Amino acid sequence: MAFKVAERGAIAPFIVMDVMQAAARREASGRGVIHLEVGQPSGLAPLKVREAARHALLTQPLGYTVALGVESLRTRIARHYAHAYGVSVPAERICITTGSSAGFLLAFLAAFAPGDRVAVAAPGYPAYRNILQALGVECVSVPVGPASRWQLSVEVLKGIEGKLDGAVVASPSNPTGSMLSAHEVAELAGWCELQGIRLISDEIYHGITFGRAAATAAGLAAAPHAVIINSFSKYYAMTGWRLGWMVLPADLTRAVECLQQNLFISPPTLSQIAAEAVFDCLDDLEARVTAYQENRDILLAELPEAGFARLAPSDGAFYLYADISDQTGDSRDFCARMLDEIGVAATPGVDFDPYEGGRTLRFSYAGSKADMIEAARRLKAWR
Ligand SMILES: Cc1ncc(COP(=O)(O)O)c(C=O)c1O
Repeated sequence: MAFKVAERGAIAPFIVMDVMQAAARREASGRGVIHLEVGQPSGLAPLKVREAARHALLTQPLGYTVALGVESLRTRIARHYAHAYGVSVPAERICITTGSSAGFLLAFLAAFAPGDRVAVAAPGYPAYRNILQALGVECVSVPVGPASRWQLSVEVLKGIEGKLDGAVVASPSNPTGSMLSAHEVAELAGWCELQGIRLISDEIYHGITFGRAAATAAGLAAAPHAVIINSFSKYYAMTGWRLGWMVLPADLTRAVECLQQNLFISPPTLSQIAAEAVFDCLDDLEARVTAYQENRDILLAELPEAGFARLAPSDGAFYLYADISDQTGDSRDFCARMLDEIGVAATPGVDFDPYEGGRTLRFSYAGSKADMIEAARRLKAWR
């Protein structure tokens, strides 16, 4: 008897996970790896987070929470918007999610129907494309480059043929680290609103910026239908706690609540309790940003000497996206050789860009300073 595998489930792999697997195999065979592939903070979660979790583990039953998440955490996040951005966001429109990954699933399900068309930047975070595909939503991958600072812009969106139902932007972006200015965020959000295009703003790298702060699309009077997605995985250094949040427009809040009730029941309870403490750890979190900046500066100084001279801006996040077209047209093979020959893991651009990704790769500098120095040394010797 032949069983079918549904076509919508046959989405592309998240290639960085495959690279991590190859790196793990190498480590298991006793050969070390410098991890420039992984886009996550290293080290422990902030102390107060761990203490809050310990206390909750010992004293609380940790059952389900209400579907939109623990009220005190939602209120704390609303306060964060007032404090960090000076915008007013009602706690009732904040939904806590199982990482921002669940936020994307919930937002896409609530906002888009099968056959709708949603624009995403190429290069961009691969899961946008792959989740949309699984939901039967057409992902319109829009090539971007230096002309729009690697971001979608009103000009870029105007150039797309056919009707658009949505657009996903990320600032700072993965993999390029490029950012939209406050003016650009407002312009994009206002234009999308007027066109009836649902803007999904991925703000998960907010906080990890070098120089100017990232602008939020939350609370913009001109964009009341935008969805804002954020996470505790990056700036807040709570990656494996699997927690994120959304700021929802009024028309989607109930739909997302019902979806969450049925798909997840509630986000992880222990993580929700612990996450409230992370807003009291800003000194610790800022010290991490300083370390990322030092790592970035080391790589910016060293990589050109290793043959990686053409790099996207890296205004924020912890990535450097390199054009390696002078070295290869097959970034997957290039990264496999780099791992095999010098033990440095990086992510091939094919993960992020269906058009040009064979000629690019991404380095993550979320690791230790010592790893950056050693990686640069090996890459220069490998050249
Ligand atoms: C741009 C972007 N959005 C979303 C995510 C998903 O993160 P999480 O589910 O841990 O919040 C990632 C993870 O790397 C990312 O880079």
